[in-house]
Amino acid sequence: MSEEAPIVIATDGLTRRFGSMVAVDRLTISIRAGEVFGFLGHNGAGKTTTVRMLNGVIAPTAGSARVFGLAPQTDGARIRARTGVLTETPALDNRLSARATLEYFSDVYAVPRPQRRQRVAELLERFELTGRADDKVGGFSRGMRQRLAIARALVNDPDIIFLDEPTSGLDPVAIRDVHRLIEGLSHRGRTVFLCTHNLAEAERLCDRVAVLARGQVLAVGTTRELAAELNRGHRISVEVDTHDTARAQALFSALPQVSQTENVGDRTAARNGATLLILHGVTRADVPAVIAAAMQAGVNLYRVEPVDESLEDVYFALQGH
Ligand SMILES: Nc1ncnc2c1ncn2[C@@H]1O[C@H](COP(=O)(O)OP(=O)(O)OP(=O)(O)O)[C@@H](O)[C@H]1O
Ligand SMILES: [Mg+2]
Repeated sequence: MSEEAPIVIATDGLTRRFGSMVAVDRLTISIRAGEVFGFLGHNGAGKTTTVRMLNGVIAPTAGSARVFGLAPQTDGARIRARTGVLTETPALDNRLSARATLEYFSDVYAVPRPQRRQRVAELLERFELTGRADDKVGGFSRGMRQRLAIARALVNDPDIIFLDEPTSGLDPVAIRDVHRLIEGLSHRGRTVFLCTHNLAEAERLCDRVAVLARGQVLAVGTTRELAAELNRGHRISVEVDTHDTARAQALFSALPQVSQTENVGDRTAARNGATLLILHGVTRADVPAVIAAAMQAGVNLYRVEPVDESLEDVYFALQGH
């Protein structure tokens, strides 16, 4: 993905009400071709409703959306020809086999006949369904159904793939496979719109994320950008001898770089006769100064470590926890 890649999804004040309830509230985002974009938020935050509007399944009550520059409500068919969607609860026909399911969707998406057979075979292989290709979907496990539903979303080799919680209910191996698949799509320049509750998954896969609450975007950016926005990006954890705790706290607080020294009461450190202090406002570049100050004051230092903000930290801070 590059800065110059064209914008393929853009919304401007996109809003959807259900009665008096505002499910999506003035959403304005833009996503470039090739991005893996994470859409995060608690249950009911408005993720699925957004996906449904972007695909022209439901209409916005205000604002607008463009996908490939087209309006989903009026150009839904042209958009859907180039997109794939894994819905939150994919409906599969239990009477069809896995192969017949994919063949049927190849038909729907007008995949050219000569390519059809091979495309279906490839997808069955990629999703490890070849062995069960001719079994009826009704007898599939949840994970197998989910894999088939993802395969189905890819029959038209789409440029944009919407995945609404693709790994929910999958076992660890299947989750890893889905992650690899998303990475593969991204390497091949596809755009992925990923709704997920799994913050580690989002952190690993997404170029950028949007954090949603009650239909509103709280923040958009890379994990690093969000952490910086929250001003929590610069921290160092320091383990000092328990006997030196008070002295160390005073010492570090006096350093000009340190905005706050926090004793988090870490139990693991305590078991080792140490105290874990978090120094706020400092970066990796300040580590030598922290060590020098401790040595000069005779404070016993066991460990110094810059703390990288995880997406989980940022998420909970944004959601006000
Ligand atoms: N068809 C509908 N009729 C009425 N209310 C709806 C409808 N669809 C969604 N909502 C409401 O809109 C809000 C947002 O729902 P949405 O499904 O978009 O959330 P979500 O972020 O996908 O949540 P989850 O993480 O649970 O999947 C919820 O309060 C939901 O009850
Ligand atoms: Mg949802």
